Amino acid sequence: MSPFRITRTLPEDAMAAALRADVQEGLTADPKSLPPKWFYDAHGSELFERITELPEYYPTRAEREILAGRAADIAAALPARTLVELGSGSSEKTRYLIGALTELDTYVPVDVSDSALTQAGQALVAERPQLRVHALIADFTAPLTLPEAPGPRLLAFLGGTIGNLLPAQRAEFLAGVRALLSPGDALLLGTDLVKDEEVLVRAYDDAAGVTAAFNKNVLNVVNRELGADFDPAAFDHVALWDAAQEWIEMRLRSRVAQTVKVPALDLAVDFAAGEELRTEVSAKFRREGVERELAAAGLHLTRWWTDSARRFALSLSMAR
Ligand code: SAH
Ligand code: AVI
Repeated sequence: MSPFRITRTLPEDAMAAALRADVQEGLTADPKSLPPKWFYDAHGSELFERITELPEYYPTRAEREILAGRAADIAAALPARTLVELGSGSSEKTRYLIGALTELDTYVPVDVSDSALTQAGQALVAERPQLRVHALIADFTAPLTLPEAPGPRLLAFLGGTIGNLLPAQRAEFLAGVRALLSPGDALLLGTDLVKDEEVLVRAYDDAAGVTAAFNKNVLNVVNRELGADFDPAAFDHVALWDAAQEWIEMRLRSRVAQTVKVPALDLAVDFAAGEELRTEVSAKFRREGVERELAAAGLHLTRWWTDSARRFALSLSMAR
């Protein structure tokens, strides 16, 4: 077997059907919303990588600091032979784990972005020719079947991407993760922490406008895939902190009253001037909440590490 293999777990027409269903439901709801997984076509994945380098966007640097300092502790706690990573993107920070896991045989990156998986997988096998890389193009919010690979397994979910799920989706997701693990396997989870509102809002509304372009990219995806006629310039990027829910919300605010056509769905969508479309939540966490949500899914938190400025946490929890 070649050391790099990529499997599409959902046929392309199923992905297209999922986009149609999400757009139909989200644009006819009140208030309007779209799920964040549709940001990540090839261009959206590139924009996300640019976000990770912005001075305002601290989560990637904070999580990298933890991984750089703690990868050896993680490997000692769970000397995994298989590393599964959900929402792996560029797998850039994962290199610290791969480097520390001396028994590692197989890496299974899972992502909806085939461009990100292909680039990351090819680079990794060039760097680590002994490592088997079996990438899965899949939606991690749907039931997953993992390839046969030796245990123990470490399942990583980095970047704070769990915060992009709503609370009920998180509970369902964590129960699904627990079902993928056997006793003795572990989950390594990255969670961004609650902090000063100003720092948070700046991280999602950067001066260079990269996050605004990332947010508007979902409109380009709907235009290309469903023939819609969204004019991204007719929407403003909005990032706000919801103190009650403890999450950042990204929205697109219509600058004018307008009607957008979505021919593939035979749909005409009216926007009032100032009407907002929610495109993402990014929840921020406290240790007690993370521990409680993990326990509810049957996962026992054993380690908790933060960066030096306590902005971001990595936790290790065991399946029993
Ligand atoms: N883990 C990386 C990337 C985070 S960006 C990091 O920490 O930098 C979020 C990643 O999750 C993107 O690569 C995106 O394509 C992927 N993603 C988002 N929603 C997804 C879903 N429902 N199923 C699978 N992948 C998803
Ligand atoms: C992938 N996810 C954790 C990012 C976040 O911070 O919620 C996505 C993102 N949205 C805007 N900037 C980055």
